[in-house]
Order: sequence, then structure tokens, then C-alpha cells
Amino acid sequence: MDIKHIQLKSCGDERGSLIALEEKSNIPFEIKRVYYMFKTGEDVRRGFHAHKTLKQVAIAVRGSCKFLLDDGTEQITVTLDHPAQGLLIESFMWREMFDFSPDCVLMVLADQLYDEADYVRNYDQFIAQVQSGE
Ligand code: TYD
Repeated sequence: MDIKHIQLKSCGDERGSLIALEEKSNIPFEIKRVYYMFKTGEDVRRGFHAHKTLKQVAIAVRGSCKFLLDDGTEQITVTLDHPAQGLLIESFMWREMFDFSPDCVLMVLADQLYDEADYVRNYDQFIAQVQSGE
């Protein structure tokens, strides 16, 4: 599976660090929505869905968490633990997020507004749709 990591350039000086996110530049799409998860319980596992068309970039701006990514044939686990590390999640990728550190702030940039109709929340349906090439 081709996992696209985005190494974000950090502008650091004696005052600290700064990272800028720009659409169609270091973020490879128009940014329509930003959301973030925080105070996630230690034993919580969330996600459990794929998107039909949505693309996203996830960044653990603080703390760490893990992503299980599944394209229907292969599964891979990715750890996000640095604010300069972006993870591109293409459409039709099943994802589960887990192992959130207590301080984790997981920020997600998306190329579309929230639309429940774009979700595939049933794993068997996801596999069936991948296999049928829908
Ligand atoms: P949910 O889809 O359950 O999160 P995840 O799949 O990451 O575990 O979303 C939790 C709630 O937040 C749900 O009521 C829908 C709402 N929500 C929005 O209103 N806008 C958004 O952009 C997102 C991602 C979720």
C-alpha cells in the first residue's frame, strides 16, 4: 500500500517552531474543512469508516496516536507523533484511530464539507465496493 507521508517544513528559530499549511501547496487539495479531536479516551478506538470521495490530511499537532489504514487488500499501521508529520488519506481507505496519548490533538484537513452520504461505515460494504471497483 502506498502511504503518502507529508513532511511539513518547520520554520524554527530561538522563539520556537511554526508550521504553515497551504492548500494546493504542502496540502495537496483545496481545504474546505478542518476539525480536530482532543481529550480522546485512552482506550478509545474511533473512525471505522472510509470515504467515497473525500481526501484528508491528518496531523497530530500535539501528542501521538495511531492509524490503521486498510485499502481493502492490505492493512498498515501508522504512528503520528510529530506536528511536522502529515498523513494523506485518500478516498476509499478504511481507517481506525487508536492509542491516543492523553494530550493528543489530532487535526484533520479535508477537501470537502461534512457529508454523511460520503461515508461508508460498514466494513463488509467497503470491501464489496472496493472489489466491484465502484
Ligand atoms: P464521527 O464520524 O463519529 O467521528 P469518527 O468517525 O472520527 O470517530 O463524528 C463524531 C461526531 O462529529 C458526529 O456526530 C458527526 C460530527 N462531525 C461533524 O459534525 N463534522 C465533522 O466534520 C466531523 C468529522 C464530524
